[in-house]
Amino acid sequence: MKAVVYRGAYKVAIEEVPDPAIEEPSDAVVRITTTNICGSDLHMYEGRTAVEEGKVLGHENMGIVEQVGEGVRHVKVGDRVSVPFNIACGTCRNCQQGWTSFCLTMNPTEGVDGAAYGYANMGPYNGGQAEYLRVPVADFNLLELPPGDEFEQDFTMLSDIFPTGWHGAELAGVVPGDSVVVYGAGPVGLMAAHSALIKGARRVFVVDKEADRLSLAAKFGAEPIDFSKGDAVEQLMDANGGPVDRGIEAVGYQAHDHSGQEHPELVLDNLVKSVRSTGGIGVVGVYVPEDPQAATKQAKEGRIGWDYGTFFTKGLSMGTGQAPVKRYNRQLRDLIVAGRATPSLLVSHQLSLSEAVSGYEHFDKRDDGWTKVLLHPAA
Ligand SMILES: NC(=O)c1ccc[n+]([C@@H]2O[C@H](COP(=O)([O-])OP(=O)(O)OC[C@H]3O[C@@H](n4cnc5c(N)ncnc54)[C@H](O)[C@@H]3O)[C@@H](O)[C@H]2O)c1
Ligand SMILES: [Zn+2]
Ligand SMILES: [Zn+2]
Repeated sequence: MKAVVYRGAYKVAIEEVPDPAIEEPSDAVVRITTTNICGSDLHMYEGRTAVEEGKVLGHENMGIVEQVGEGVRHVKVGDRVSVPFNIACGTCRNCQQGWTSFCLTMNPTEGVDGAAYGYANMGPYNGGQAEYLRVPVADFNLLELPPGDEFEQDFTMLSDIFPTGWHGAELAGVVPGDSVVVYGAGPVGLMAAHSALIKGARRVFVVDKEADRLSLAAKFGAEPIDFSKGDAVEQLMDANGGPVDRGIEAVGYQAHDHSGQEHPELVLDNLVKSVRSTGGIGVVGVYVPEDPQAATKQAKEGRIGWDYGTFFTKGLSMGTGQAPVKRYNRQLRDLIVAGRATPSLLVSHQLSLSEAVSGYEHFDKRDDGWTKVLLHPAA
């Protein structure tokens, strides 16, 4: 089959690779109808992870079940499914408590709990930016979707960014009536804003410097703040008349100032300033324990000097980590079907698999209008 393969910094290639097969009785093979490029893929693309060359990328996958192992009971050939980016066993303590993003058994990497498709340090699993994908423990991991092709562009957000945005709002503790700031208007930040509004937030502010992304934030009903036009926190305080109740981090360790200079502590510091005392902060932007390309010795070891003193003094709380997709994807699917959620508003490009190389280039440069790229391997 054809697949998007990592070939070193700023290099992906469309290559012929072996078709995935059933390896365990609980596996399924899914024929991919839609697979998205994620901001998380860009950390690998830019050479900022330890991902090995030859890995098939892609953790935002959906499609049609092509084949099932003899131990699969519930999922049937022909089912239309969303594949959560987390690969979970379903039986360990974390999986049983709904923390599939910290599954204790599926990732053989020393010191890392949680596995995923096509991702650095997340286990030996190939990704779904390909014609087919092997899904372990299919009955537990796959989410059934209504048959047909309706809502394809919405449902494709169920594998990662919609549940991840929702998780950011959960970790921040968003309840009806809250005011919320989201840092980052990438796909994850936009989904966090959408989620906070669905959860009944009174006002949601979204901070970024990319005009096209900020105008999408407004389309979702949030209030954009452009940090290239002045200090983000000052603008937020002016607009809200003081600090907000909740803050969501949707940028990650490659956070930068308006000139492009990286400051991994910048958004964490801004959140501590932005959120009222006793408020909550949800961090879904990715931070890493090792970043050899970081600017400082400390940051190379994942040590980020942020304003913990003020964080403590204000009695703030913070939740972090990869999103447990399965905790939310069923309800979010049903919100889409009911017309209460429309994550597809952020889709900018739909490409065939053979156009993926240019998709990565444009999305990585945050070129104007390149907000979310969907690949259709069958096209
Ligand atoms: N926790 C999870 O489960 C999970 C899942 C998916 C993605 N992620 C992570 O979420 C983050 C965002 O993903 P994405 O797909 O939206 O990526 P993205 O790179 O497209 O978006 C990040 C946005 O942050 C903006 N930004 C940079 N510095 C900023 C600053 N100082 N203040 C405000 N905005 C700033 C950029 O302009 C960009 O628009 C990434 O780190 C990604 O790895 C986490
Ligand atoms: Zn993703
Ligand atoms: Zn598990």
